[in-house]
Amino acid sequence: MKDLFDKIYRDKGPLGKWASQAEGYFVFPKLEGEISNRMKFRGKEVITWSINDYLGLANHPEVRKVDAQAGADYGSAYPMGARMMSGHTDMHEKLQNELASFVNKEAAYLLNFGYQGMVSTIDALVAKDDIIVYDVDAHACIIDGVRLHMGKRFTYKHNDIESLEKNLERATKMAEQTGGGILVISEGVFGMRGEQGRLKEIVALKEKFKFRFFVDDAHGFGTLGKTGAGAGEEQGVQDGIDVYFATFAKSLASTGAFIAADKEIIDYLKYNLRSQMFAKSLQMQLVVGALKRLEMLRTMPELKNKLWENTNALQSGLKKRGFDIGTTQSCVTPVYLKGSIPEAMALVRDLRENYGIFCSIVVYPVIPKGLILLRLIPTATHTLDDVNETLDAFDAIRERLENGTYKRLSASVAASMDK
Ligand SMILES: Cc1ncc(COP(=O)(O)O)c(C=O)c1O
Repeated sequence: MKDLFDKIYRDKGPLGKWASQAEGYFVFPKLEGEISNRMKFRGKEVITWSINDYLGLANHPEVRKVDAQAGADYGSAYPMGARMMSGHTDMHEKLQNELASFVNKEAAYLLNFGYQGMVSTIDALVAKDDIIVYDVDAHACIIDGVRLHMGKRFTYKHNDIESLEKNLERATKMAEQTGGGILVISEGVFGMRGEQGRLKEIVALKEKFKFRFFVDDAHGFGTLGKTGAGAGEEQGVQDGIDVYFATFAKSLASTGAFIAADKEIIDYLKYNLRSQMFAKSLQMQLVVGALKRLEMLRTMPELKNKLWENTNALQSGLKKRGFDIGTTQSCVTPVYLKGSIPEAMALVRDLRENYGIFCSIVVYPVIPKGLILLRLIPTATHTLDDVNETLDAFDAIRERLENGTYKRLSASVAASMDK
Protein backbone atom coordinates (compact mmCIF):
# COMPACT_ATOMS: atom_id res chain seq x y z
CA MET A 1 0.00 0.00 0.00
CA LYS A 2 1.15 3.50 -0.79
CA ASP A 3 2.07 6.03 1.81
CA LEU A 4 -0.36 8.95 1.61
CA PHE A 5 2.60 11.31 1.31
CA ASP A 6 4.15 9.50 -1.70
CA LYS A 7 2.46 11.81 -4.18
CA ILE A 8 3.65 14.84 -2.27
CA TYR A 9 7.26 13.61 -2.27
CA ARG A 10 6.95 12.94 -6.01
CA ASP A 11 5.09 15.99 -7.29
CA LYS A 12 4.89 19.41 -5.71
CA GLY A 13 2.04 20.55 -7.97
CA PRO A 14 1.92 23.00 -10.90
CA LEU A 15 3.17 25.96 -8.87
CA GLY A 16 5.06 24.15 -6.13
CA LYS A 17 7.48 22.67 -8.65
CA TRP A 18 8.94 26.15 -9.19
CA ALA A 19 9.62 26.64 -5.49
CA SER A 20 13.38 26.22 -5.60
CA GLN A 21 13.74 28.91 -8.29
CA ALA A 22 10.88 31.12 -7.25
CA GLU A 23 10.35 31.10 -3.51
CA GLY A 24 11.21 34.29 -1.67
CA TYR A 25 11.44 36.23 -4.91
CA PHE A 26 8.62 35.53 -7.34
CA VAL A 27 6.38 33.82 -4.81
CA PHE A 28 6.27 34.49 -1.09
CA PRO A 29 8.29 37.70 -1.53
CA LYS A 30 8.63 39.81 1.59
CA LEU A 31 7.55 43.39 1.09
CA GLU A 32 8.63 45.50 4.02
CA GLY A 33 7.80 48.90 5.43
CA GLU A 34 4.49 50.67 5.79
CA ILE A 35 1.88 49.73 3.21
CA SER A 36 2.08 52.44 0.56
CA ASN A 37 3.05 53.23 -3.02
CA ARG A 38 6.71 52.68 -2.15
CA MET A 39 7.88 49.85 0.04
CA LYS A 40 11.07 47.85 0.45
CA PHE A 41 11.94 44.59 -1.24
CA ARG A 42 15.21 42.96 -0.20
CA GLY A 43 16.41 46.23 1.24
CA LYS A 44 15.67 48.35 -1.84
CA GLU A 45 12.83 50.80 -2.40
CA VAL A 46 10.29 49.67 -4.99
CA ILE A 47 7.10 51.17 -6.38
CA THR A 48 4.47 48.66 -5.27
CA TRP A 49 1.84 47.72 -7.83
CA SER A 50 0.77 44.48 -6.26
CA ILE A 51 -1.37 45.50 -3.30
CA ASN A 52 -5.16 45.76 -3.46
CA ASP A 53 -5.22 48.78 -1.19
CA TYR A 54 -7.27 50.61 -3.82
CA LEU A 55 -8.29 53.61 -1.76
CA GLY A 56 -5.06 53.86 0.18
CA LEU A 57 -6.80 53.19 3.49
CA ALA A 58 -4.38 50.53 4.76
CA ASN A 59 -2.01 53.04 6.25
CA HIS A 60 -4.18 56.13 6.41
CA PRO A 61 -3.42 57.91 9.72
CA GLU A 62 -7.12 58.08 10.70
CA VAL A 63 -7.53 54.37 10.04
CA ARG A 64 -4.38 53.49 11.94
CA LYS A 65 -5.59 55.55 14.88
CA VAL A 66 -8.98 53.82 15.01
CA ASP A 67 -7.40 50.37 14.59
CA ALA A 68 -4.97 51.06 17.45
CA GLN A 69 -7.70 52.42 19.71
CA ALA A 70 -9.97 49.44 18.96
CA GLY A 71 -7.06 47.13 19.76
CA ALA A 72 -6.57 48.92 23.07
CA ASP A 73 -10.31 48.91 23.87
CA TYR A 74 -11.13 45.34 22.92
CA GLY A 75 -7.91 43.37 22.37
CA SER A 76 -7.99 40.86 19.57
CA ALA A 77 -10.14 38.22 21.26
CA TYR A 78 -13.42 40.03 21.79
CA PRO A 79 -16.08 38.77 21.25
CA MET A 80 -15.48 35.10 21.90
CA GLY A 81 -17.57 32.41 20.26
CA ALA A 82 -19.63 32.18 17.09
CA ARG A 83 -22.15 34.93 16.33
CA MET A 84 -25.07 32.64 17.13
CA MET A 85 -23.70 31.59 20.49
CA SER A 86 -21.79 34.36 22.24
CA GLY A 87 -20.05 36.41 19.54
CA HIS A 88 -22.77 38.91 18.66
CA THR A 89 -22.57 42.65 19.45
CA ASP A 90 -24.25 45.97 18.68
CA MET A 91 -21.24 46.94 16.61
CA HIS A 92 -21.57 43.88 14.36
CA GLU A 93 -25.20 44.85 13.79
CA LYS A 94 -24.31 48.49 13.17
CA LEU A 95 -21.70 47.54 10.58
CA GLN A 96 -24.15 45.20 8.86
CA ASN A 97 -26.81 47.91 8.71
CA GLU A 98 -24.37 50.46 7.31
CA LEU A 99 -23.02 48.03 4.71
CA ALA A 100 -26.55 47.07 3.63
CA SER A 101 -27.60 50.66 3.21
CA PHE A 102 -24.38 51.52 1.36
CA VAL A 103 -24.89 48.79 -1.24
CA ASN A 104 -28.63 49.43 -1.42
CA LYS A 105 -29.86 46.16 0.01
CA GLU A 106 -32.27 45.50 2.86
CA ALA A 107 -29.84 43.58 5.02
CA ALA A 108 -26.27 42.34 5.27
CA TYR A 109 -24.35 39.72 7.23
CA LEU A 110 -20.68 39.68 8.15
CA LEU A 111 -18.26 36.97 7.09
CA ASN A 112 -14.90 36.31 8.72
CA PHE A 113 -13.10 35.83 5.41
CA GLY A 114 -14.28 36.41 1.89
CA TYR A 115 -13.05 33.10 0.58
CA GLN A 116 -14.69 30.95 3.23
CA GLY A 117 -17.78 33.11 3.18
CA MET A 118 -18.27 32.71 -0.57
CA VAL A 119 -17.86 28.94 -0.29
CA SER A 120 -20.34 28.81 2.53
CA THR A 121 -22.89 31.16 0.94
CA ILE A 122 -23.01 29.08 -2.23
CA ASP A 123 -23.39 25.99 -0.07
CA ALA A 124 -26.25 27.55 1.87
CA LEU A 125 -28.10 28.92 -1.16
CA VAL A 126 -28.46 25.69 -3.10
CA ALA A 127 -30.03 22.32 -2.36
CA LYS A 128 -29.41 19.07 -4.20
CA ASP A 129 -32.12 19.65 -6.79
CA ASP A 130 -30.89 23.17 -7.67
CA ILE A 131 -28.61 23.95 -10.60
CA ILE A 132 -25.63 26.33 -10.55
CA VAL A 133 -24.53 28.16 -13.70
CA TYR A 134 -21.26 30.09 -13.33
CA ASP A 135 -18.54 31.83 -15.31
CA VAL A 136 -15.70 29.48 -16.19
CA ASP A 137 -13.11 32.07 -15.08
CA ALA A 138 -14.60 32.35 -11.62
CA HIS A 139 -12.36 32.92 -8.59
CA ALA A 140 -11.23 29.83 -6.66
CA CYS A 141 -13.68 30.57 -3.84
CA ILE A 142 -16.60 30.26 -6.26
CA ILE A 143 -15.20 27.06 -7.71
CA ASP A 144 -14.76 25.62 -4.23
CA GLY A 145 -18.29 26.66 -3.25
CA VAL A 146 -19.64 24.94 -6.34
CA ARG A 147 -17.63 21.83 -5.44
CA LEU A 148 -19.72 21.44 -2.30
CA HIS A 149 -22.90 21.39 -4.35
CA MET A 150 -24.42 17.91 -4.57
CA GLY A 151 -26.50 18.71 -7.65
CA LYS A 152 -25.81 19.75 -11.25
CA ARG A 153 -23.66 22.65 -12.33
CA PHE A 154 -22.75 24.22 -15.67
CA THR A 155 -20.05 26.66 -16.59
CA TYR A 156 -20.54 29.26 -19.30
CA LYS A 157 -17.70 30.70 -21.39
CA HIS A 158 -16.06 33.67 -19.74
CA ASN A 159 -18.37 36.70 -19.90
CA ASP A 160 -20.11 35.16 -22.92
CA ILE A 161 -23.83 35.88 -22.78
CA GLU A 162 -24.66 33.54 -25.65
CA SER A 163 -22.95 30.71 -23.82
CA LEU A 164 -24.75 31.67 -20.61
CA GLU A 165 -28.09 31.57 -22.45
CA LYS A 166 -27.34 28.11 -23.81
CA ASN A 167 -26.46 26.88 -20.37
CA LEU A 168 -29.53 28.51 -18.86
CA GLU A 169 -31.65 26.63 -21.39
CA ARG A 170 -30.01 23.36 -20.32
CA ALA A 171 -30.29 24.28 -16.66
CA THR A 172 -33.95 25.23 -17.04
CA LYS A 173 -34.79 21.86 -18.60
CA MET A 174 -32.93 20.09 -15.86
CA ALA A 175 -34.50 22.16 -13.09
CA GLU A 176 -37.94 21.31 -14.46
CA GLN A 177 -37.03 17.65 -13.96
CA THR A 178 -35.45 18.00 -10.53
CA GLY A 179 -37.98 20.50 -9.24
CA GLY A 180 -35.19 22.88 -8.18
CA GLY A 181 -34.16 26.44 -9.02
CA ILE A 182 -31.16 28.06 -10.72
CA LEU A 183 -28.33 30.12 -9.23
CA VAL A 184 -26.14 32.15 -11.62
CA ILE A 185 -22.78 33.33 -10.26
CA SER A 186 -20.47 35.96 -11.73
CA GLU A 187 -17.78 38.26 -10.45
CA GLY A 188 -18.38 42.01 -10.53
CA VAL A 189 -14.80 42.47 -11.71
CA PHE A 190 -12.61 39.58 -12.77
CA GLY A 191 -9.51 40.19 -10.72
CA MET A 192 -6.91 38.79 -13.07
CA ARG A 193 -7.86 40.57 -16.30
CA GLY A 194 -9.91 43.42 -14.91
CA GLU A 195 -13.01 42.93 -17.03
CA GLN A 196 -16.31 43.70 -15.40
CA GLY A 197 -18.78 40.85 -15.31
CA ARG A 198 -21.59 41.54 -17.79
CA LEU A 199 -24.03 42.07 -14.97
CA LYS A 200 -26.43 44.21 -16.96
CA GLU A 201 -26.86 41.61 -19.67
CA ILE A 202 -27.11 38.83 -17.12
CA VAL A 203 -29.81 40.66 -15.19
CA ALA A 204 -31.65 41.29 -18.48
CA LEU A 205 -31.80 37.51 -18.99
CA LYS A 206 -34.18 37.37 -16.04
CA GLU A 207 -36.88 38.40 -18.54
CA LYS A 208 -36.33 35.13 -20.34
CA PHE A 209 -35.19 32.72 -17.63
CA LYS A 210 -36.00 32.16 -14.00
CA PHE A 211 -32.87 32.33 -11.86
CA ARG A 212 -31.30 34.08 -8.87
CA PHE A 213 -28.10 36.06 -9.34
CA PHE A 214 -25.11 36.04 -6.96
CA VAL A 215 -22.23 38.48 -7.57
CA ASP A 216 -18.75 38.39 -6.02
CA ASP A 217 -17.74 42.04 -6.21
CA ALA A 218 -14.41 41.83 -4.38
CA HIS A 219 -12.68 44.23 -6.78
CA GLY A 220 -15.70 46.39 -7.67
CA PHE A 221 -16.70 47.40 -4.14
CA GLY A 222 -15.21 50.82 -3.37
CA THR A 223 -13.77 51.29 -6.85
CA LEU A 224 -16.78 51.30 -9.19
CA GLY A 225 -20.11 53.09 -9.26
CA LYS A 226 -20.94 56.70 -8.47
CA THR A 227 -20.80 56.18 -4.71
CA GLY A 228 -18.34 53.30 -4.79
CA ALA A 229 -21.05 50.69 -4.19
CA GLY A 230 -19.53 48.52 -6.89
CA ALA A 231 -20.10 46.94 -10.27
CA GLY A 232 -23.89 46.63 -9.79
CA GLU A 233 -24.14 50.37 -9.17
CA GLU A 234 -21.75 51.11 -12.06
CA GLN A 235 -23.94 49.13 -14.46
CA GLY A 236 -27.21 50.34 -12.93
CA VAL A 237 -28.40 46.85 -11.99
CA GLN A 238 -27.83 46.57 -8.26
CA ASP A 239 -31.52 45.68 -7.79
CA GLY A 240 -31.16 42.75 -10.18
CA ILE A 241 -28.41 41.22 -8.06
CA ASP A 242 -30.12 38.94 -5.57
CA VAL A 243 -27.10 38.31 -3.36
CA TYR A 244 -24.20 40.75 -3.34
CA PHE A 245 -20.80 39.89 -1.86
CA ALA A 246 -17.70 41.98 -1.17
CA THR A 247 -14.58 41.46 0.90
CA PHE A 248 -12.86 43.94 3.23
CA ALA A 249 -9.52 42.70 1.88
CA LYS A 250 -9.32 45.17 -0.99
CA SER A 251 -10.87 48.67 -0.91
CA LEU A 252 -11.45 48.48 2.84
CA ALA A 253 -7.89 47.30 3.43
CA SER A 254 -8.65 44.89 6.22
CA THR A 255 -9.90 41.37 6.85
CA GLY A 256 -13.51 40.20 6.74
CA ALA A 257 -16.32 40.36 4.19
CA PHE A 258 -20.09 40.58 3.88
CA ILE A 259 -23.09 39.48 1.89
CA ALA A 260 -26.11 41.69 1.29
CA ALA A 261 -29.60 40.80 0.05
CA ASP A 262 -33.29 41.04 0.92
CA LYS A 263 -33.87 40.73 4.66
CA GLU A 264 -35.57 37.37 4.35
CA ILE A 265 -32.61 35.92 2.49
CA ILE A 266 -30.09 37.28 5.00
CA ASP A 267 -32.25 35.98 7.87
CA TYR A 268 -32.06 32.56 6.26
CA LEU A 269 -28.31 32.74 5.64
CA LYS A 270 -27.70 33.86 9.22
CA TYR A 271 -29.03 30.51 10.38
CA ASN A 272 -27.49 28.40 7.62
CA LEU A 273 -24.03 29.73 6.85
CA ARG A 274 -21.79 27.04 8.20
CA SER A 275 -18.66 29.22 7.99
CA GLN A 276 -20.25 31.63 10.46
CA MET A 277 -22.24 29.20 12.60
CA PHE A 278 -19.23 27.06 13.36
CA ALA A 279 -16.48 29.66 13.58
CA LYS A 280 -15.56 32.47 15.92
CA SER A 281 -17.16 35.83 15.22
CA LEU A 282 -15.27 38.55 13.35
CA GLN A 283 -13.25 40.27 16.07
CA MET A 284 -14.27 43.69 17.27
CA GLN A 285 -11.10 45.42 16.18
CA LEU A 286 -11.93 44.48 12.60
CA VAL A 287 -15.57 45.51 13.00
CA VAL A 288 -14.70 48.92 14.43
CA GLY A 289 -11.99 49.31 11.79
CA ALA A 290 -14.42 48.45 9.00
CA LEU A 291 -16.93 51.03 10.29
CA LYS A 292 -14.24 53.70 10.07
CA ARG A 293 -13.15 52.60 6.61
CA LEU A 294 -16.72 52.52 5.34
CA GLU A 295 -17.31 56.03 6.70
CA MET A 296 -14.21 57.22 4.82
CA LEU A 297 -15.26 55.44 1.65
CA ARG A 298 -18.63 57.21 1.86
CA THR A 299 -17.44 60.65 2.82
CA MET A 300 -14.12 60.99 0.99
CA PRO A 301 -14.85 60.68 -2.74
CA GLU A 302 -11.42 62.21 -3.35
CA LEU A 303 -9.88 58.81 -2.56
CA LYS A 304 -11.74 57.10 -5.40
CA ASN A 305 -11.09 60.08 -7.67
CA LYS A 306 -7.35 59.83 -7.05
CA LEU A 307 -7.45 56.07 -7.62
CA TRP A 308 -9.06 56.66 -10.99
CA GLU A 309 -6.73 59.50 -11.89
CA ASN A 310 -3.83 57.07 -11.38
CA THR A 311 -5.64 54.24 -13.12
CA ASN A 312 -6.43 56.35 -16.16
CA ALA A 313 -2.89 57.73 -16.37
CA LEU A 314 -1.41 54.25 -16.11
CA GLN A 315 -3.78 52.55 -18.54
CA SER A 316 -3.77 55.31 -21.16
CA GLY A 317 0.03 55.63 -20.86
CA LEU A 318 0.49 51.90 -21.42
CA LYS A 319 -1.91 51.92 -24.38
CA LYS A 320 -0.24 54.96 -25.91
CA ARG A 321 3.09 53.16 -25.74
CA GLY A 322 1.60 50.20 -27.55
CA PHE A 323 1.25 47.76 -24.65
CA ASP A 324 -1.48 45.16 -24.72
CA ILE A 325 -3.60 45.69 -21.60
CA GLY A 326 -6.39 43.42 -22.78
CA THR A 327 -9.97 44.41 -22.10
CA THR A 328 -9.83 45.77 -18.58
CA GLN A 329 -12.78 47.88 -17.43
CA SER A 330 -11.59 48.43 -13.89
CA CYS A 331 -8.51 49.52 -11.95
CA VAL A 332 -6.92 46.09 -12.40
CA THR A 333 -4.28 46.67 -15.07
CA PRO A 334 -2.89 43.63 -16.86
CA VAL A 335 0.04 43.93 -19.26
CA TYR A 336 0.42 40.99 -21.63
CA LEU A 337 3.84 40.19 -23.07
CA LYS A 338 5.07 37.20 -25.03
CA GLY A 339 7.77 35.02 -23.56
CA SER A 340 8.72 31.84 -21.76
CA ILE A 341 8.68 31.35 -18.01
CA PRO A 342 12.48 31.72 -17.70
CA GLU A 343 12.28 34.94 -19.73
CA ALA A 344 9.50 36.15 -17.46
CA MET A 345 11.70 35.49 -14.44
CA ALA A 346 14.63 37.42 -15.91
CA LEU A 347 12.32 40.27 -16.86
CA VAL A 348 10.76 40.57 -13.44
CA ARG A 349 14.18 40.41 -11.79
CA ASP A 350 15.29 43.28 -14.04
CA LEU A 351 12.15 45.28 -13.22
CA ARG A 352 12.67 44.86 -9.51
CA GLU A 353 16.45 45.17 -9.26
CA ASN A 354 17.21 47.79 -11.89
CA TYR A 355 14.00 49.79 -12.18
CA GLY A 356 12.54 49.46 -8.68
CA ILE A 357 9.15 48.29 -9.95
CA PHE A 358 7.33 45.60 -8.00
CA CYS A 359 4.30 44.03 -9.66
CA SER A 360 2.79 40.56 -9.70
CA ILE A 361 3.72 38.15 -12.42
CA VAL A 362 1.38 35.47 -13.72
CA VAL A 363 2.49 32.69 -16.05
CA TYR A 364 1.37 29.26 -17.28
CA PRO A 365 -0.62 27.31 -15.99
CA VAL A 366 -2.72 30.27 -14.77
CA ILE A 367 -2.62 31.81 -18.28
CA PRO A 368 -1.80 30.15 -21.63
CA LYS A 369 1.76 28.98 -22.35
CA GLY A 370 4.02 31.60 -23.96
CA LEU A 371 2.25 34.56 -22.32
CA ILE A 372 3.56 36.66 -19.48
CA LEU A 373 1.03 38.66 -17.52
CA LEU A 374 2.27 41.50 -15.38
CA ARG A 375 -0.55 42.71 -13.19
CA LEU A 376 -0.57 46.23 -11.81
CA ILE A 377 -2.94 47.47 -9.14
CA PRO A 378 -3.05 51.27 -8.93
CA THR A 379 -4.08 52.80 -5.63
CA ALA A 380 -4.94 56.25 -4.32
CA THR A 381 -1.48 56.46 -2.74
CA HIS A 382 0.37 56.33 -6.05
CA THR A 383 1.55 59.54 -7.65
CA LEU A 384 1.74 60.51 -11.31
CA ASP A 385 5.53 60.35 -10.92
CA ASP A 386 5.16 56.69 -9.93
CA VAL A 387 3.11 56.15 -13.06
CA ASN A 388 5.60 57.85 -15.37
CA GLU A 389 8.57 56.06 -13.84
CA THR A 390 6.75 52.78 -14.34
CA LEU A 391 5.84 53.54 -17.95
CA ASP A 392 9.49 54.29 -18.76
CA ALA A 393 10.58 51.07 -17.06
CA PHE A 394 8.03 49.10 -19.07
CA ASP A 395 9.37 50.58 -22.30
CA ALA A 396 12.85 49.49 -21.33
CA ILE A 397 11.95 45.95 -20.35
CA ARG A 398 9.88 45.44 -23.49
CA GLU A 399 12.87 46.43 -25.59
CA ARG A 400 15.10 43.99 -23.73
CA LEU A 401 12.49 41.24 -24.05
CA GLU A 402 12.25 41.80 -27.79
CA ASN A 403 16.00 42.02 -28.39
CA GLY A 404 16.58 38.69 -26.70
CA THR A 405 18.35 39.96 -23.58
CA TYR A 406 16.11 37.96 -21.26
CA LYS A 407 16.40 34.87 -23.41
CA ARG A 408 20.16 35.00 -22.98
CA LEU A 409 19.97 35.85 -19.30
CA SER A 410 17.51 33.06 -18.72
CA ALA A 411 19.44 30.39 -20.61
CA SER A 412 21.26 29.33 -17.46
CA VAL A 413 17.99 29.28 -15.51
CA ALA A 414 16.37 27.16 -18.22
CA ALA A 415 19.33 24.78 -18.25
CA SER A 416 19.10 24.29 -14.51
CA MET A 417 15.36 23.61 -14.81
CA ASP A 418 15.86 20.94 -17.45
CA LYS A 419 18.03 18.93 -15.13
C1 LIG B 1 -12.91 37.71 -6.47
C2 LIG B 1 -12.51 37.38 -5.06
N1 LIG B 1 -13.39 36.80 -4.24
C3 LIG B 1 -13.07 36.48 -2.98
C4 LIG B 1 -11.82 36.73 -2.47
C5 LIG B 1 -11.49 36.28 -1.08
O1 LIG B 1 -11.58 37.29 -0.14
P1 LIG B 1 -10.78 37.24 1.23
O2 LIG B 1 -9.40 37.68 0.96
O3 LIG B 1 -11.56 38.16 2.12
O4 LIG B 1 -10.83 35.83 1.74
C6 LIG B 1 -10.86 37.34 -3.28
C7 LIG B 1 -9.50 37.65 -2.80
O5 LIG B 1 -9.21 38.26 -1.84
C8 LIG B 1 -11.22 37.69 -4.61
O6 LIG B 1 -10.34 38.29 -5.42
